[in-house]
Amino acid sequence: MSVARPTYCGVMPTPRYTHGHHESVLRSHQWRTAANSAGFLLADLGTGDRVLDVGCGPGNITADLAQYVPDGSVVGIDLSEEIIARATSDHAATPNVSFRVGDVYGLDAPDGSYDVVYAHQVLQHLHDPVAALREMRRVLAPGGLLAVREADFGGFFWHPATPALDEWMELYHRVTAHNGAQADGGRHLPQWVRGAGFTDLAVTATSWTFETAEDRSWWGGLWADRVVLSEFARQAVEYSLSTPEELETIAAAFRSWATSEDGLFVVPSIEVLARP
Ligand SMILES: C[S@@+](CC[C@H](N)C(=O)[O-])C[C@H]1O[C@@H](n2cnc3c(N)ncnc32)[C@H](O)[C@@H]1O
Repeated sequence: MSVARPTYCGVMPTPRYTHGHHESVLRSHQWRTAANSAGFLLADLGTGDRVLDVGCGPGNITADLAQYVPDGSVVGIDLSEEIIARATSDHAATPNVSFRVGDVYGLDAPDGSYDVVYAHQVLQHLHDPVAALREMRRVLAPGGLLAVREADFGGFFWHPATPALDEWMELYHRVTAHNGAQADGGRHLPQWVRGAGFTDLAVTATSWTFETAEDRSWWGGLWADRVVLSEFARQAVEYSLSTPEELETIAAAFRSWATSEDGLFVVPSIEVLARP
């Protein structure tokens, strides 16, 4: 028997977002483009499509998508006022993109008002991704397209093996579980999408690979900073799941990995296209 989740004025309560928007986190989000994060969608975009980007963060993918729909528009929504203010200012020069504060559990849009609803690395952070997907389905026009992509932390791999990075992965799972989130969201994504009533699923997987000296320095450096400076670090200590000393050890392991000339890090994501 399923138990109804408590809601406030019909809106799902939102858990703490694990990463926050510290500069070390944004270094990663601002690197993202339509090509490296929405490649599975691009061939299906029509030039006049109305696109909604849910949980858009700093809006780099959102603004990039706008170039693929020159006669249409892209709206980015995010729960964080701070990140929406930043996205609005950073992408003011892109004419057909706009940003609003909004909650995926209660979208401020009429039924059937978008041709495409996209969400990238958002559902894994939610208590109830199926409820979120149902709301995304509500705002899709008949014949519209859902496009969602989620990483699967349990599927990450790297070389060389480093015990402190294994501890980081274990800690990441424990912090996200404490937040009611699902670190291995990728493998659950098709099931979530079906559970929300979508049909005609096309499921694929692509990955980001960090191997060159420049990529290792960037990826290892941003994670070294994230594990001690971001909201993740604050939560890990607050939940008594780690200590500042242990986090410093993990940060040092990321820096050391970055300098290994045989170093490799692979981040897989599952992506789903589906119809409402
Ligand atoms: C990992 S970031 C992804 C940002 C962007 N999509 C990207 O890939 O760069 C997840 C984003 O989801 C937002 N978010 C979390 N819960 C949300 C909710 N209930 N409604 C809307 N956005 C939410 C967070 O504020 C954060 O900006």
